[in-house]
Amino acid sequence: MPMTCARVNSLGTSTASSMEITHIISETRDLLRQARAEGKRVGLVPTMGFFHEGHLSLMRQARKDNDLVVVSLFVNPIQFGPSEDFRDYPRDLDRDARMAEEVGVDMIFNPPVEEVYRGGHNTYVNVRKLTEGLCGAARPGHFLGVTTVVLKLFNIIQPDRAYFGCKDYQQLKVIERMVRDLDVPVEIVPMPIIREPDGLAMSSRNTYLNPDERKAALVLSKALAYGQELLSQGVTSGEELRRRVEEFIGKEPLAEIDYVAVVDVEELDALAEIKDKAVLALAVRIGKTRLIDNMLIAR
Ligand code: PAJ
Repeated sequence: MPMTCARVNSLGTSTASSMEITHIISETRDLLRQARAEGKRVGLVPTMGFFHEGHLSLMRQARKDNDLVVVSLFVNPIQFGPSEDFRDYPRDLDRDARMAEEVGVDMIFNPPVEEVYRGGHNTYVNVRKLTEGLCGAARPGHFLGVTTVVLKLFNIIQPDRAYFGCKDYQQLKVIERMVRDLDVPVEIVPMPIIREPDGLAMSSRNTYLNPDERKAALVLSKALAYGQELLSQGVTSGEELRRRVEEFIGKEPLAEIDYVAVVDVEELDALAEIKDKAVLALAVRIGKTRLIDNMLIAR
């Protein structure tokens, strides 16, 4: 009979696997307290699960930078609107756990909703202005849900570093601002967008696309490349560039534009004139699926 080898993992606990999966805040804190007392540096990757290479790239970087890597896996109900996909959001903890363990994650924190939002929860973090445009305009309350859960995760895990993808550029800027404004002792590490070989930005929501929609979804990354091309050709008016990218996307029959925006890289204000660089940001519905993508464009 082959024996399961009990190993001591980086958390100092002895288990058959090298990764812990925790569900309860107090248990998670107890495990991390010891590691921190030993001077171990903790990296956190907040996620809603259904991992793809985008998520894994964040975990790999966290593995390189820290002694201990924690991934939170929590589909956060308060960042979804009433008519959004909270119930349908893809979930597969077994698959996610295998993938995370393969890249060397030490702990997955996977709390139930009632553990995170206990009866009488009444406190929300509001980053003003930055959350009002782009995705914030189309999804009222979304960023309030994101910042609230992310600050809670920072308080529970108390990471030294936390990793966020530029795929959700507005989310990254909002979290950076929250951390700065509230003096949260964590370093935010921005990570590049990981794409499929044909250019589609990886997303857990890509699983909603049927084959025709999957093809049509390429219009997002193509529109971003077209935007860069326009700027390189001397189209420096933010409004003209925005309009021409909108026209480009309009040619795809399955695409319905939510927004196309040319914004300043920090404040996310619409740019009348692109001096050196800008973020070109898109939200486009392909069938029922709302996809976002963005690119830093530079002269
Ligand atoms: P989720 O959509 O699961 O994304 C988790 C992290 O992975 C985010 O930082 C996101 O920007 C990053 N990510 C997603 N797709 C990526 C890609 N193609 N390339 C690089 N990084 C990518 O974003 C959330 O969850 C939630 O809002 C969360 C922050 C966890 C709060 O609930």
